[in-house]
Amino acid sequence: MSAEQSVPGSVAAVVVLAAGHGKRMKSTKSKMLHEVCGKSMLSYAVAAAQTLNPDHLVVVVGHMKEQVLAHLEHLSIPITTAEQPEMLGTGHAVRCGLDAVPQLQGEVVVTYGDVPLLTGQTLTDLVAQHRAEGAGVTVLTAELEDPSGYGRIIREGDEVVRIVEQRDGTAEELAVHEINSGIYVFDAEVLAAGLGTLQTDNKQGEQYLTDVIAYARSQGRRVAARITTDVVQTRGVNNRVELAELNREMNLRICRKWMEAGVTIIDPATTWIHDSVDLAEDVTILPGTQLQGATSIATGAVIGPDTTLTDVEVGEGATVVRTHASLAIIGPDTSVGPFSYLRPGTELGTGGKIGAFVETKNAVIGDGAKVPHLTYCGDATIGEGANIGAGTIFANYDGLAKHHTTIGRHSFVGSNSVLVAPVEIADGAYVAAGSTVTSGVGPGELGVCRAQQRNIRGWVARKRSGTKTDEAAQTALTEAEQAEDIQ
Ligand code: UD1
Ligand code: MG
Repeated sequence: MSAEQSVPGSVAAVVVLAAGHGKRMKSTKSKMLHEVCGKSMLSYAVAAAQTLNPDHLVVVVGHMKEQVLAHLEHLSIPITTAEQPEMLGTGHAVRCGLDAVPQLQGEVVVTYGDVPLLTGQTLTDLVAQHRAEGAGVTVLTAELEDPSGYGRIIREGDEVVRIVEQRDGTAEELAVHEINSGIYVFDAEVLAAGLGTLQTDNKQGEQYLTDVIAYARSQGRRVAARITTDVVQTRGVNNRVELAELNREMNLRICRKWMEAGVTIIDPATTWIHDSVDLAEDVTILPGTQLQGATSIATGAVIGPDTTLTDVEVGEGATVVRTHASLAIIGPDTSVGPFSYLRPGTELGTGGKIGAFVETKNAVIGDGAKVPHLTYCGDATIGEGANIGAGTIFANYDGLAKHHTTIGRHSFVGSNSVLVAPVEIADGAYVAAGSTVTSGVGPGELGVCRAQQRNIRGWVARKRSGTKTDEAAQTALTEAEQAEDIQ
């Protein structure tokens, strides 16, 4: 997440490993591109790496590399990409990464592209400890109740002497609960020399990056470890169950961040907020709400319940209830919902209302204007203070092209009207209820476009004689006659 401070003095490189298969995702999409709170896992890894201000930020790609490369390009960050043509192990992957940059001096940090909760702050602390201890390698570790699957940290005293993989360990080694997160700081020279010595004489036949630890020791270099208690920061994603778990955890962290910043979130468990969203103090979020993309909410606004906003700007003091909106602007003090659908290009001014079962698209709606019930409003400009009656349809599409409708200031469109675009209702005009408007209505005019009403006397008696309706009519007519007689 944001607001991380970087260590004084940058590191030589951060190498992000992102070449692996991710077979258990069972996806045609690269595992690295699966999203956590609206952003790819890889983009979190890149953002964390960036906080170290590295001279080289290297991403090692391999499996589904076209997708990963296209995604990295889209991030518009200066990144060196390196290809690992075959998955020969983490050591081989790092070597491929280093081959893509000049010979380095200083520190090289290694992280994974599928460990999305790792923060820049944790990396910063790791580098700081590495420097303070004058270590050749510093590894980020964690104590897990169930360490199975991970490499184990083998210590002598407080020094790490080697890392043993699950498949290669003895019973005694596998009893160790301290695990290797796979995140390290290396002295660049130790790393380069160590990678040159890697063998594949292990159960997986791979070049293990972890063997560089034993190499560093053999060269008399200290290997330090930093134990994190925030274990989830070290967790990688191998399948969609783990993806969901980390999504939930990241979401809770994002919710907590906003609550600490003064946002009321009634139920963080059912509130989903993308990392990219911006919220002001004294915003209230009700259960079942999703805030996505470049959504921003100003102070005092109340959002939800059961609302999804994607790339929506909400002004101060607005209320948005059971609404689905995207690429829209909801002005200050507006009331939207329940059951409103705001599509791209909707812009609501200040203090207006969009009510139940109203769909808007490409519609600029002025201050104080009201579209309260059961309306489709597409390709329209509505002036300030206008009132659009229940059931109004803006007929914007003629089967070939879309056309625009303009409604002037303080105009009034009666219920159940159809406005056949292109058409313009002037400022201060009325449209009679039930009209099908095909040509403009001028200022101060009432546009009426419907058949004149006529009432056919005695129709019920003639056509529905003997029914309860007829009976009611006879009673009412008799009563009316009697009342007239009395007068
Ligand atoms: C590795 C560590 C293990 C540690 C674990 C933490 C080694 C030998 N083992 O285990 O000690 O506990 O991470 O999660 O390093 N990758 C490549 N190219 C490869 C192999 C892997 O890019 O050839 C990438 C993967 O995409 C992934 C990361 O490296 O992002 C880790 O690979 P993975 O196979 O999940 O780790 P392990 O080998 O199981
Ligand atoms: Mg592996």
